[in-house]
Amino acid sequence: MSSILSVDDLGAEGFDALLARAAALAGGARAHERRGVALLAFFQASTRTRLGFARAAVDLGAAPLDLSGARHTAVMSAPESLGDTLRAVAGIADVVVLRHPDADEAGRAVRGLDRPVVNAGLGDVEHPSQALVDLHAVATLRGGARRLRWGLVGDLAGSRSAHSLLRALRWYDPVEVRLLGPSRPDGWTDGLAVSEADPDALAGLDVLYVAGLPAGSAWGDPTTRARCRLDAARMARLPERALVLCPLPRVDEIDVAVDADPRAAWFRQADLGRWARLALLEHAWG
Ligand code: CP
Repeated sequence: MSSILSVDDLGAEGFDALLARAAALAGGARAHERRGVALLAFFQASTRTRLGFARAAVDLGAAPLDLSGARHTAVMSAPESLGDTLRAVAGIADVVVLRHPDADEAGRAVRGLDRPVVNAGLGDVEHPSQALVDLHAVATLRGGARRLRWGLVGDLAGSRSAHSLLRALRWYDPVEVRLLGPSRPDGWTDGLAVSEADPDALAGLDVLYVAGLPAGSAWGDPTTRARCRLDAARMARLPERALVLCPLPRVDEIDVAVDADPRAAWFRQADLGRWARLALLEHAWG
C-alpha cells in the first residue's frame, strides 16, 4: 500500500517500472486482480481522470464508487471538512483517488488516512497520473522517452500537469527543455537544463507539450492566447517526426483544424491513458 501524491513518491525507478508495466498491460498482460472498492473522491470537475480511474478499477476486478454530493461546502445544511469526510468513508474503500482544488487542505486531509491515496490532480501543484499518461504516450508513440528535445507552452506556472511532467523529465535525460511561456514554472525545473524561448521557437523539437491556458486563468487576454495558440502555421515549424501532446481539455489553445495532422497525438495520448492509470492503481493498491 503506497500513496502517490507526487511523482517523487514513485522515484525514478518506480516511475520507470510503471511505464514498463503500462506498456505490458497495453500489450495484453493481465492486470493483477484487486477485489474491493476504489473511491473516486473528486471535488473538482474531471472527465478523463475520473473515468480513466473508474475503468482501471473495473479492469482490476474492483468496483469504482463515486463520492459525490460532498458536504464540505458552507452552503450545505451540515458542512463537513474534507478530512472528516475522507476519514468517515475511507473504511468502505481500499484505495482513494483524490482530486481537490486546494492541495494544502488535501494534504492535511489525507495525513494519517489508513488507505493509499492517489493524487488525481491537487490544486495547481501536481498531477502525477497525468505525467505517467504523458510519458507512456511518448514512450509508445516514439519508441522511447529518453534523450528527447521537449518544448512546453501554456500557463506553466499554474499547470499541475506541467509541474509533474517536469519533475518526471529529470529521469529521462532530456537533450533540451524549452519553456515557451507565457508563464514560468519557477521551482519545478530543478535538475533540468532549461531555456526560455518565444512560442514560435518550435524548430528541432521532438515533443511539444501544450499545457494550455485554462479559461479564467490570468492568461485570458486574446493577445496572449493568440500568441500561444497552436495552429497550422505553428505546426509547420515543427519537425516532421515531432509529437504534440496535450493533457486536455482545450479551450482554444489548439486549433481543431490541426487535429488531423499526424503529429497531433492528444487523442491517442488520451486513449493510452487507460494503461498508465491501470498500472498506477494496481501499484497503489499493493
Ligand atoms: N487531463 C485531465 O486531467 O483531464 P480531466 O480534468 O478531464 O480529468
